[in-house]
Amino acid sequence: LVPVGLSSGPAPGFVSDLNPVSSSDSERPNFVLIMVDDMGMGDLGCYGNKTLKTPNVDRLASEGAKLTQHIAAAPLCSPSRAAFLTGRYPVRTVGWAGVFIMNAASGGLPRSEITFASIAQKQGYETALIGKWHLGLNCETSTDHCHHPNKHGFKYFWGFPLTNLRDCHPGRGTVYALEKYLPLRTAAVLLLSTGLAIGAASLVVLFSCFYAAFLTVVPYMNCVLMRDGAIVQQPFSNANLTQRMTREAVEFIERSAERPFLLFFTFLQVHTALFASAQFTGSSPHGIYGDAVQEVDWSVGQILQTLERLGLSENTLVYLTSDQGAHLEEGTHGGHNGIYKVTNFEGGIRVPGLVRWPRKIRPGLEIHDATSNMDVFPSVVQLSGGQLPQDRAIDGRPLLDLLLAPTQRSDHEFMFHYCHSTLQAVRWSPRNSRSVWKAFYFTPNFHPPNSSGCFHTLVCFCSPGHVTAHDPPLLYDLSRDPSESTPLGPESEEDFHSIVDVMERAAREHRASLQPRESEMTPGKVVPKPWLQPCCSSLARLCACNRD
Ligand SMILES: *[C@@H]1O[C@H](CO)[C@@H](O)[C@H](O)[C@H]1NC(C)=O
Repeated sequence: LVPVGLSSGPAPGFVSDLNPVSSSDSERPNFVLIMVDDMGMGDLGCYGNKTLKTPNVDRLASEGAKLTQHIAAAPLCSPSRAAFLTGRYPVRTVGWAGVFIMNAASGGLPRSEITFASIAQKQGYETALIGKWHLGLNCETSTDHCHHPNKHGFKYFWGFPLTNLRDCHPGRGTVYALEKYLPLRTAAVLLLSTGLAIGAASLVVLFSCFYAAFLTVVPYMNCVLMRDGAIVQQPFSNANLTQRMTREAVEFIERSAERPFLLFFTFLQVHTALFASAQFTGSSPHGIYGDAVQEVDWSVGQILQTLERLGLSENTLVYLTSDQGAHLEEGTHGGHNGIYKVTNFEGGIRVPGLVRWPRKIRPGLEIHDATSNMDVFPSVVQLSGGQLPQDRAIDGRPLLDLLLAPTQRSDHEFMFHYCHSTLQAVRWSPRNSRSVWKAFYFTPNFHPPNSSGCFHTLVCFCSPGHVTAHDPPLLYDLSRDPSESTPLGPESEEDFHSIVDVMERAAREHRASLQPRESEMTPGKVVPKPWLQPCCSSLARLCACNRD
C-alpha cells in the first residue's frame, strides 16, 4: 500500500500533523475542487452505475483515490456548502441549517467565518469560484455583497449567488409551491381558520393574486448570474449554461497557469429543474437526469484536458464530490443513491469523493474509512502552506494523511449528523473494529406515511410532530447493514447498551463544544427584503438584463 512516488514515509514537504507545511512554491499543488449538486453516489460509473456513461469522472477514480464513506455535513445544499468551505459543522457557522431560497434574504455565510479560499489567497493562490454559491449575498443594501464569494476569499467569481430553481426554467414549475413546505393538513387548517375569521373568499382571492404576481417576478428576483460584483444575466438562461461555466473555468486555469491556483467549480446540475444542452439531450438512457449527469462528466473532462494541455496535471489536486445525495423528494426524473436509504438517512449524506493527485496518491486507491466534505478545508490549508485558525473548532481532518498512508485509520472516530440544527444521529467507527455504528435519536416521519421519503414536503422536517424520537436510539451497524434496514437492539447486539453509552458521551462532548450563535436562517433573515434585491436595470423593467 505504498503510494506511487513514495518509498517510505511522507512526501517531502508534507507533514502528517496539523502543523503548517513549509513548502516552496513548486511543491504546493493547484486545487481544482469540483462539486456537483444533488448527485447521488449511484449515478457514477466508478460507484457502480452500469448505464450512465461517466468516463471522465471515472478516470479520477482510476487515477486517484475513491472514498466510499465520504460524508456531507448536511443533506441540504447551503449547510453542506458552508461546512465544506469552513471545515466546520453547519451548526457552528450558519446555525439553523435549511436552505436559502431568496436572493433578497439577509442571511448567509458570516464574515467571521474563514474559508479555505481566503487562506489559500493569503498564501498567494489565485482563487476562483465558478458556479453555484448559495450562501447569501447582501446584509443591509442591495450592493453591499457582505456574503458574496469575493468577500470569502474567491478573487474571481462567475456564477449564481443563489441556486438552480425550477422557477429559473420557464414552464418547469415552481419551488415555491406552498403546499410542499407545509404538510397539506396544516396548510388547510391554517387557511380555513384564518379564512373563517376574516372572510375566506376575499382572503383567498387576495392571496392568489399576490401569489401569482410573486411567481411571475420570481425568476427575476432569484435567477441571477454575476461576474464578480456585477450582474451579467437576470434572469439567467440555461442555454449552454454548462458550456459557459466550463469556458469560464478553462479560461481561469489558462490565465492562472503560472501561479498556484485554487478553483472551486460548482455545477447547477443535477438539481431540479433539470436541464441539458442540445448536445446532451437524449444522450443517456435515463432521461434528462442522466443527460445532465453526462454533461457534467463532459465538463469535468474539459477541465482535465485543460490541465493536461498546460502541463498542470501532475501538480494539481483534483477533488470531486456532491453537496448531498440525490434529492429523490424533489425530482421525478431520476437520481440514484445506490444501496443507501433516502435523505436524512445514509443516502442524503453519503456522497461521491474522488481525489486525484498524480505521483502522490496511489491510482485506484479505495478508502472505506469515514471521511467528510469538511476535510477539504484542513487539506487545502495544509498543502497551501497556511495555518489552521486557532480560535475556533475545526471539524475536518486532513485527507492527505489518510490518502498517503492508507493503512492508518481515519481521524473521524465520531461524526455528528444533523437534521437542521438538531443532532439526529451519531456515527462511531471504533478504532479497534471495522464496525460503523450509527445511532439515531430520531427519524423523520415519511409522507405519505408508508413511503420511504418525505415526498409531499420536498424535504424532511425535523421538529417534533414531524419526527419519531427513539430512546434508546435506533442503532445500525453500517459495516453489516449499509442500507439501514434492520435496527439492532439489546437482543440482537449484546453490547448494545455500552455502544450507545459511548455514543451518547461523544454527543454530549460535541454539544458542549458548540458556541451559542445567532442563526443565519431565522425567519427575519430568510424573508426577502426589497431593499436587498439585486437588480441590474430598473424595477420597471423587472430588473431584467443580459450582458453575457
Ligand atoms: C444509474 O443511474 C440512473 C440515474 O440516476 C439510475 O436510474 C439507475 O438505476 C442507475 N443504475 C445503477 C445500476 O445503479
